[in-house]
Amino acid sequence: SHGVFTYDPGFMATGSCESAITYIDGDAGVLLHRGYPIAQLAEHSDYLETCYLLLYGELPSSEQKANFIETVKNHTMVSESMQKFLEGFRHDAHPMAIMVGLVSALSAFYQDHMDINDPEHREIAAFRLISKMPTLAAMCFKYSKGQPTMYPRNELSYAENFLYMMFATPCEDYKVNPVFANAMDKIFVLHADHEQNASTSTVRLAGSSGANPFACISAGITTLWGPAHGGANEAVLTMLEEIGDVSRIDEFIEKAKDKNDPFRLMGFGHRVYKNFDPRAKVMRETCDQVLAELGQANDPLLKIAKRLEQIALEDPYFVERKLYPNVDFYSGIIMKAIGIPTSMFTVIFAMSRTIGWISHWNEMISGPYKIGRPRQLYVGKTERDYPTEK
Ligand code: SDX
Repeated sequence: SHGVFTYDPGFMATGSCESAITYIDGDAGVLLHRGYPIAQLAEHSDYLETCYLLLYGELPSSEQKANFIETVKNHTMVSESMQKFLEGFRHDAHPMAIMVGLVSALSAFYQDHMDINDPEHREIAAFRLISKMPTLAAMCFKYSKGQPTMYPRNELSYAENFLYMMFATPCEDYKVNPVFANAMDKIFVLHADHEQNASTSTVRLAGSSGANPFACISAGITTLWGPAHGGANEAVLTMLEEIGDVSRIDEFIEKAKDKNDPFRLMGFGHRVYKNFDPRAKVMRETCDQVLAELGQANDPLLKIAKRLEQIALEDPYFVERKLYPNVDFYSGIIMKAIGIPTSMFTVIFAMSRTIGWISHWNEMISGPYKIGRPRQLYVGKTERDYPTEK
């Protein structure tokens, strides 16, 4: 029907696909990964354990988890020639533009001897992507600052390693703040997967043609970049800084209601959730914790955000339309407190979502599938003849 994908027989005729990875109930505000509620994973699990769960379907034993972490550590470096590829970009290129290129370029290293029908090849591709995304992301950041790439340190945890590669320099020892590392890991868990969102659907559609997983993930990064999707976390910070003071919130609320004004309240609304995004609740608690631990509980942006949320949850325009804060509403405030520039926010979303993308890709390729072929509702001219007499 109009605007909804109608996949070929390989997918259910309802215009969607079958998947066992994530379940969302948008009206109830429920998000389950392989049956586990996101709030419980955020509280008790960590990102690499969540990666194992999404990829293999079950939580790992302590031995399985240790082996998984060890394998991830063995793939954190990228070919040195990626540094030369990086240096072809302008220094002020948006990090997402660079990430799309770098991740796609991974195809050049692994595509030739990869058989996507071999489960072991698919698994190693997943490890390479999980392991290398933080290294590539940090390279983008360092390049934009004119600083040298910092190589991964395998004695560090996943989140510590990312923050080390982002903020360490060759000039002195760098100790990662554990508050920042914990907050980063929680952000990774909360963004790991979200069913058939736009970028995951892109990865599945690209994968259904048999394209290699690195190119498919690059397509997912491209889709995530848009401000209606993953680019919203960067747009939320820009919006909060533009509002500048709680006294100006009403002006922006009116703009958001004005049908002639393209402005939308960034971080509010969702294609599926018509209730609180369960990730936003955890993100708000994490935000309070991090800012309190940093002595920034009175951060003006947090005050604006909380006041905005309160107004939006009371204002009939938003209540009638069931517009609640989503995952992007608070994540940017946390990342800003950690010292991460807004231009890197969506890159971090892409890093985290890589496990969701590759798990969906693997799920599709490991079973019977056909190439996706979205159909359309034709609304153009009916058949007519070319005018022969001029
Ligand atoms: C993500 O799909 C996923 O799962 C995505 C994601 C994931 O994890 O992968 O959850 C991540 O992308 C979260 C969303 C991040 N985007 C933003 O925060 C950008 C701001 N939000 C909007 O652009 C919007 O809410 C969307 C794009 C998210 C959803 O757009 P829809 O589907 O058009 O919203 P809707 O159909 O529910 O809108 C209903 C009404 C409309 O007005 P009316 O025509 O009924 O009068 O609500 C209005 C919309 O104009 N509306 C908003 C609004 N969002 C919807 N009005 C003001 N501000 C907003 N943010």
